[in-house]
Amino acid sequence: MGAASATAAVELEDIQGLVRFAYKRHTEAVFLLLRVTDRVAARAWLARAVITNAVTREPAPSTALQVALTSGGLRALGVADDIIGSFSSEFVEGMAGDPSRSRRLGDEGASDPTRWQWGWGSGERMPHVAVLLYALPGLLHGLQQTIEAQLRAGFEITGRLTTSNLGGTEPFGFVDGISQPELDWSRRRPAGDVMQRSYLNLSCLGEYLLGYPNEYGLYTPRPLLEPHRDPQGILLRAEDAPGSCDVGRNGSYLVLRQLRQDVPGFWQALDRYAGGVASRREQLASAMVGRKLDGQPLVALQSSAAAAGDDPQASLNAFDYRSDPQGLRCPLGAHIRRANPRNADLPPGGNGLVSTLVRILGFDSHAREQDLVASTRFHRLLRRGREYGPGVTPTEALTGAGAGEDRGLHFLCLGANLQRQFEFVQDAWLMSAKFDGMREESDPLLGNRLPLGSAMPTDRFSAAQPNGPSQRLTGLPQFVTVLGGAYFFLPGIRALRYLSSAI
Ligand code: HEM
Repeated sequence: MGAASATAAVELEDIQGLVRFAYKRHTEAVFLLLRVTDRVAARAWLARAVITNAVTREPAPSTALQVALTSGGLRALGVADDIIGSFSSEFVEGMAGDPSRSRRLGDEGASDPTRWQWGWGSGERMPHVAVLLYALPGLLHGLQQTIEAQLRAGFEITGRLTTSNLGGTEPFGFVDGISQPELDWSRRRPAGDVMQRSYLNLSCLGEYLLGYPNEYGLYTPRPLLEPHRDPQGILLRAEDAPGSCDVGRNGSYLVLRQLRQDVPGFWQALDRYAGGVASRREQLASAMVGRKLDGQPLVALQSSAAAAGDDPQASLNAFDYRSDPQGLRCPLGAHIRRANPRNADLPPGGNGLVSTLVRILGFDSHAREQDLVASTRFHRLLRRGREYGPGVTPTEALTGAGAGEDRGLHFLCLGANLQRQFEFVQDAWLMSAKFDGMREESDPLLGNRLPLGSAMPTDRFSAAQPNGPSQRLTGLPQFVTVLGGAYFFLPGIRALRYLSSAI
């Protein structure tokens, strides 16, 4: 990784819009999974496709088109091996296929990749390209017909991941899409590994985009080329190596996973644990998520949040867990607390020199226990998921309505470092049965409930109680099953043109 050089340019017109916008008003979306059947025609489409960029427009474009490629897709397009090999090894190897990676991601048992509908092997089920289409209400059908007609010459469409609009909630019924890192588009945050003493939502661009400094103040490795490899001068020069052309600049890695949610199974199980008491059932569900159904966090919002006020989503996000170190209000194992422990660079403690040194040097035994959850800022994800399948309310789900139907989340997230962001969060925080000093439990929503190698169970969920031992649920069923997934590269628009040219 190169060290940061100071420059403030951000080429919004070269960045795919999804990095900056969640397209929330574009309530219709479909993700097309493609395989290249004719390299020349495929390249020609990719070189001409009108990709929606990250420039703010008023009114916003009524539709948006984004394109991402797997490493197999780059190979199918004929991109040179040395370029492909300079992307991150996780991307090159792919999400499935390595049993060690599958185990770390929790993709075992019912979620084992050999059972996936797509994203497995090297044949038909492994996409080369994902085309993401977004549209304002009523406009998707026409857009999809036009694009699919264009694609036919160069591609086979092997999958259509349709989405549904549940009005801002995910299928279990919780408001979703509240917490996101704020990207430092104006690049005012000093790039560099300066100790951060409190949780901050602002994140360096280089955490999500290649070609910019990340939270360490470094540029993530990516393919950099001698200028003679780009005779048409399509690529931008690397900020940290101006003599090289930057294939990564303005690009991001995209994780796409199809997560099936058993909504009746979820609410019926919680009803059993709650002895049929409605208020207790909802309380348990909130404890598992870390927020109430309406999105209110279980820990107190900072008082400035009320004043911040007019953006309700932002005000629902103004909190950290310093006021609740034992998890009395929000269990330590709640989904949102695992996914983002909202810690600073050091475990909690005073700001005095001695206290800081003790924690830096690891002499505080409690600090060691908390070490795994420290430094949240290096493990943030920009989530862009969409729900799919028919909606069913918690009350309907309790009666078993919708059982057997396919519904869930097309989980999408962006990041510049698959290993340090998605894979770390999924493995060390969500799936880990040892997270934050806990034992025998993994994420209450996502866990596959399989015992670990040592036969340690993982199907528990505990919530600390103020007076007495923790409340502990045992024998949690599996609520979420992985049906497919792949790692993609969402290139900058110039880089997409470059990769589609005959190189
Ligand atoms: C079907 C699967 C999932 C469901 C139902 C689900 C549900 C939720 C809900 C209801 C929230 C709170 C709303 C919000 O803050 O936006 C949330 C937050 C979050 N989830 Fe998930 N999630 C799922 C999968 C995942 C996966 C696979 C990851 C990461 C690998 C993940 C990472 C996060 C993160 C980072 C947050 C924000 C935490 C924070 O900053 O407070 N989720 N999720």
